[in-house]
Amino acid sequence: MSDPITIKDPAKGMLRDNALKGKTIIVTGGGTGLGKAMGTYFLQLGANLVITSRKIDVLKKTAAEMESETGGKVLAVACDVRKYEEVEKMLQQSVEVFGRVDVLLNNAAGNFISPTERLSANAFSTIIDIVLKGSANCSLALGKYWITEKIAGSIVNIITTYAFTGSAYVVPSACAKGGVLALTRSLAVEWGRHGIRTNAIAPGPFPTKGAWERLLPGDMAQKFDFKNRVPLKRVGEHQELANLAAFLVSDFSGYINGEVITIDGGEWLQGAGQFNALEMVTSDMWDNIEKATRNA
Ligand code: HXC
Ligand code: NAP
Repeated sequence: MSDPITIKDPAKGMLRDNALKGKTIIVTGGGTGLGKAMGTYFLQLGANLVITSRKIDVLKKTAAEMESETGGKVLAVACDVRKYEEVEKMLQQSVEVFGRVDVLLNNAAGNFISPTERLSANAFSTIIDIVLKGSANCSLALGKYWITEKIAGSIVNIITTYAFTGSAYVVPSACAKGGVLALTRSLAVEWGRHGIRTNAIAPGPFPTKGAWERLLPGDMAQKFDFKNRVPLKRVGEHQELANLAAFLVSDFSGYINGEVITIDGGEWLQGAGQFNALEMVTSDMWDNIEKATRNA
């Protein structure tokens, strides 16, 4: 097999300085993992940032780190996205501090692997409530605010590629992310006339503590190494996702609405094509196969 393709300097920021200046961006689940990475890049590009999740201690620590790293301004607000009143309060606080809000990044999620028949009804609804209801709650609160205030806001939803395909062993998450994809496409059309854009990103594997502890615990990370499933033979770099998210929340993507952009190194298509497994076939084997197929 040939060497995996590597890219040069993958961790560089893509947009020009101050590309997000003047924008206030709410990132749900912004205290950890991918939300933290995307939020940090938004700050580097001049945005004001609101990070929210349930754990205020984590948020405060992250906000302090982000401010000292970027010189930007970060508001940390405890908010359980499952509770609409908390979402409204978080929005109110954000407007009080920054004057307005321009962007919502629905990134908060809950997930764990389990055979579906082992789940309690509450376990199933917990994931649906965080992912689908949480994204809907935040979109609803922001949409009402933007339409009333005549602000051309923008929503970006973080889904996953199994929103298209479904996936065994993460069934509540697959149902919820599929719902968020439908939410994305529906609101893109309904709220487009208000100048509100709604888009989604479907990431493939981007290692984070939160996801890896719940999806690949113990030695599963070695046994089911995600990079082997990816045609590019590597996992994603957080900055690569941050670049895409920054583009989608910026005015440079002003005519993109209702789109879902996959960033997975080709992973989900690898599982789809019937003959994709033939990457195992060596050059010598192909010589024999060619003879056989030509003689057929
Ligand atoms: C079976 C489980 C379980 C498990 C919890 N439950 N963990 N059931 N297997 N491993 C059950 C509980 O027993 C309970 O049901 C119900 O789920 C709710 O659990 P709580 O702990 O009370 O809920 P809560 O405190 O709200 O925590 C939510 C959580 C937790 C989802 C369970 O893991 C969490 O806070 N996650 C947030 C971060 C996260 O998940 N990050 C990963 C995102 S990764 P009963 O019936 O007992 O009351 C991601 C990547 C996708 O989405 C794609 C990757 C490639
Ligand atoms: P993570 O660090 O665990 O992020 C999840 C965040 O959601 C946490 O900050 C958590 O904070 C927050 N959260 C959970 N329940 C919440 C609730 N009820 N209200 C508010 N916030 C809540 O995992 P991650 O990998 O960065 O995931 C970020 C996003 O990327 C998720 O949407 C995930 O589905 C998606 N994604 C990740 C991957 C990957 O490979 N990592 C791949 C595809 C998609 P609290 O615990 O403080 O509430």
